[in-house]
Parts: sequence; C-alpha cells; structure tokens
Amino acid sequence: MFERTLSIIKPDATKRNLTGTINKIIENNGLRIIAQKRLKLNEEQAKKFYEVHNEKSFYNDLIEYMSSDPIVVQVLEGDNAITKYREIMGSTDPQLAEEGTIRKQVAISKQENSVHGSDSVENATKEINFFFKIAEIVG
Ligand code: CMP
Repeated sequence: MFERTLSIIKPDATKRNLTGTINKIIENNGLRIIAQKRLKLNEEQAKKFYEVHNEKSFYNDLIEYMSSDPIVVQVLEGDNAITKYREIMGSTDPQLAEEGTIRKQVAISKQENSVHGSDSVENATKEINFFFKIAEIVG
C-alpha cells in the first residue's frame, strides 16, 4: 500500500550533525522525503506528542530529552512506508537493532535512539496532523 509516515530525527542525532547520514539511509532504502522541517519542541508540545506514554517510567526523561534540542520532522512516502521505515530504523534498543539499520549505526541508547517513526496508519495520520498544526509541515 502506498503510504505516508511521520519521521522525527531526534535531538541526539541533530546535535551530532547526523541529519544527512540518516536521510541517506532513508533514501537508499527507497523512501522519499516529501517534507522536512527543523524545529524545537517546547515541553508542552513534547508532552502532547508522547501523551500515550504518560504512565511510563521513562516519560519525564523522554519529555526533557525531546525538548532539549532541535529535531527534524519529516513526512516519508512510499510503498508500505510505515512498516518499511520501522524496519529501516531497527529495534528501539540500539543494542538489539539489526546491522544496517539507523539505530544500529548511530543510536546511543533506548532513549537517545536517534529516530521516531509512526507505528500504524492511524497514528501516521494523527502525527502528520499534529506537526501540520504546530509547524505547517505538509508533505
Ligand atoms: P519512540 O519510537 O519515539 O517512542 C517512544 C520513545 O520513548 C522511544 O522512541 C524512545 O526514545 C523512548 N523509550 C522507549 N522505551 C524506553 C526505555 N525503556 N527507556 C527509555 N526511553 C525509552
């Protein structure tokens, strides 16, 4: 299915100038970056984006981290873009991520795992709308 997914290049990656490296991996794997914007989330926006995790032990740290430095928000398009991007990213924990995945190559830890990708069609739509509202990222 031809799909769109929401990707975030996270603070640990933008801080280390890895946006180009990550974009290269995305493009080499056949996904097209059809929109992209660098911005800094404030705490309130980070809380809203990660609302579903608000009961988790790592929630407060996650909010602090995601609002600490700029992120690059992207819309990716392609065949099965949602599943494909999750494969390209690799496991949440970089130690478990497979060779060739973004997280295996550049992520630091379970939290500082360099990228985010939507996990379903419903969430992709929700997340793309979220960033349209706060930053007019279109795609
Ligand atoms: P993401 O795919 O953006 O969704 C939720 C984020 O929470 C995840 O990537 C990580 O950045 C973070 N996260 C998930 N699990 C853990 C964990 N066990 N410890 C710390 N951070 C986590």
